[in-house]
Amino acid sequence: MLNQDLYQKVEENLNNYYSNKDNNIWRNNFHIEMPFGLVNDPNGLSYYNDKFHIFYQWNPFGCEHKNKHWALVKTDDFVNFTKPEIILKPEEWYDKNGCYSGGAYVKDNTLKLFYTGNVKDENNNRESYQCIVDYHKDGTFEKRGPIITKQPEGYTAHFRDPMIFIQDGVYYMVLGVQTENLKGRALIYKSEDIENWELVGELKTNMNEFGYMWECPNMVKLDKTKYAFLFSPQGLEAEEFRYQNIYQSGYIIGDLDLEEVSLKNHSEFKEIDMGFDFYAPQVFTHDGENIMIGWVGMPDKDNEYPSSDNGGWMFPLTLPRVLEYKDNVLYQRPLKLVENLRKSQIVNINNLTFCNYNLKLDSRNVEIKLDFDFDESNVIELKFKFKDEYISLVYDKRTEICIIDRNNMKLGGKGIRKFKLKTDKSLSLHMFLDNSVMEIYYEKGLQTTTLMYFPKEDELEVEIKSDNKLKLNEAIVWNLRGVKYE
Ligand code: FRU
Repeated sequence: MLNQDLYQKVEENLNNYYSNKDNNIWRNNFHIEMPFGLVNDPNGLSYYNDKFHIFYQWNPFGCEHKNKHWALVKTDDFVNFTKPEIILKPEEWYDKNGCYSGGAYVKDNTLKLFYTGNVKDENNNRESYQCIVDYHKDGTFEKRGPIITKQPEGYTAHFRDPMIFIQDGVYYMVLGVQTENLKGRALIYKSEDIENWELVGELKTNMNEFGYMWECPNMVKLDKTKYAFLFSPQGLEAEEFRYQNIYQSGYIIGDLDLEEVSLKNHSEFKEIDMGFDFYAPQVFTHDGENIMIGWVGMPDKDNEYPSSDNGGWMFPLTLPRVLEYKDNVLYQRPLKLVENLRKSQIVNINNLTFCNYNLKLDSRNVEIKLDFDFDESNVIELKFKFKDEYISLVYDKRTEICIIDRNNMKLGGKGIRKFKLKTDKSLSLHMFLDNSVMEIYYEKGLQTTTLMYFPKEDELEVEIKSDNKLKLNEAIVWNLRGVKYE
């Protein structure tokens, strides 16, 4: 088929899908996802022309990690979205094997998009080109090609994912890279005009042995001097309470010294999400808030996601989360606009003491807020039950260990995730349950877990159990509406 016909088919398939949705029980209602094909990293996140612009990696032709395009949806309320459209196609000599990830920056009324053109020859040798696109208010754009044509000496062609930040009127670009000795690193470039870039150097941290590649770096300004350097390292060894996924995403916080290209006095690496399915987050700033969206998925684990064979699509994006800097860590909370999803309050309970309680819900699209006092109990267990399958979440306040267990689900990824969570006398949980994604914020966002699940039955009950008397200060549940693409 000719390229043009292929794209016409994609457009037709999208239109068909939105005019008569199927009844696949795993399709998410309020998380961004595509009707078909494979979605991965969020890209080019920005607020431009009075709308949030959410670009993302999309293979519109199948559920494999190839044919990477940039697609786009726009919204101003996180309920009403524009219909997904393909923006960047891998069709030039400098991006023919994929328009890979990158960021955006608004300058002179133009949304400047930065991405990595991935090129491979017949022997699978890779070349990476950092490219620029001018995207305009009327939706037209010009792909202007490479602005950095090769990685510097001493690094491999794993050189990608440009993100822009500005300091003292100078533009900086941070890129993920691999050294020739196969160590993950980040490089910083700078520019006076956002067009011409020169290498500043390799970002100095004390993390010299920290995986073989750092993907999707973000430099996030927290206050005058403090920056969070957020990245997705590959090649860390799993430990009892961390690094349990094949690849990680997390951050260090320090004082950014651009003269010395160093993140000084930085904190220890902290994973940004402790769930099974979270990777390659991107952060942008709007109205003074640092807003993060992540990919709900994991590379190289395709067999954990049965929606590819049963539905022909893979992977949503997370809800937008605001990052707040407190006690030298980043707390996460849902962006206020996410409240637009609330349709009706279906539960409102106060001051109830029990050892066992069943929250029966006649919806699988809910936001749940729970606030407990441990009272005489030490262990709280939540069971998300889908008839005879369930996911459990157990927290023991004596050990401060939280365990999420997917072993009692029949389809999809299994296993447990285990992490430490500090609490005092109480525990607060804020959860968003969609048809196959669950996002949980613990203790006002001190930790989060994002995971996918593929239940056989379309019903949900949440059982709350404890080893002794437990006090539920408050439980509120909202039924959530689905987002629209029009
Ligand atoms: C992260 C990543 C990026 C790359 C993109 C390609 O998931 O591997 O490093 O740019 O995906 O789709």
